[in-house]
Amino acid sequence: MSDPEFPAAAGTINMVRRPPGGVELLYSAAEVGARVGALATEIADSLGPDILIVAILKGGFVFTADLLRALHHHGVHPRIDFLTLSSYGAGTESSGQVTITRDITDDVRGAKILLIDDILESGHTLAFARELLRERGAETVRLCVLLDKPEKRKTEINADYVGFAIGDAFVVGYGLDYAHYYRELPYIGIIATD
Ligand code: IMP
Ligand code: MG
Repeated sequence: MSDPEFPAAAGTINMVRRPPGGVELLYSAAEVGARVGALATEIADSLGPDILIVAILKGGFVFTADLLRALHHHGVHPRIDFLTLSSYGAGTESSGQVTITRDITDDVRGAKILLIDDILESGHTLAFARELLRERGAETVRLCVLLDKPEKRKTEINADYVGFAIGDAFVVGYGLDYAHYYRELPYIGIIATD
């Protein structure tokens, strides 16, 4: 199968969409796990046991699954729903235009919501999702992201709970994709450009 983005890599399944510079390790699976555990403590202490988790897909599914189980150890007993949003094409720059691909089904009225995404970059995605949940009658909407790129913000928004603040790099793994691939990596890597 030929791949116009990585012509040299075409040929085998394993090589498809492997970026020319490869993937460099940023945070190991153990480092991510430790940070997720610490976030769970912080969240349980400040939000209490009765929350509705809204996870943004696709990117937020791995982080949410681990955080959810870490929260269980602190007695948090949440409802959970999923909101699929799209703001990216297959490239690496945010379009600014957020659309709902698949909506949640739970009633959010009066709920204390923990809104989870993999990464906060321009802020368009989380600003859109928070507004949507507020309009529908949520009592509070707290934001939780595994990664934050504060330098890349284009709208005024900050997360209440942040795993790691990083610089301007394109990261993959632990749910995050590059052109729809790499979500399965158990660690967080940087796409090397050289
Ligand atoms: P924002 O709307 O610009 O804040 O971007 C948030 C969304 O963009 C996230 O839900 C991710 O899916 C995606 N995104 C932003 N930065 C990265 C990255 O470095 N790697 C992979 N996806 C990213
Ligand atoms: Mg994405």
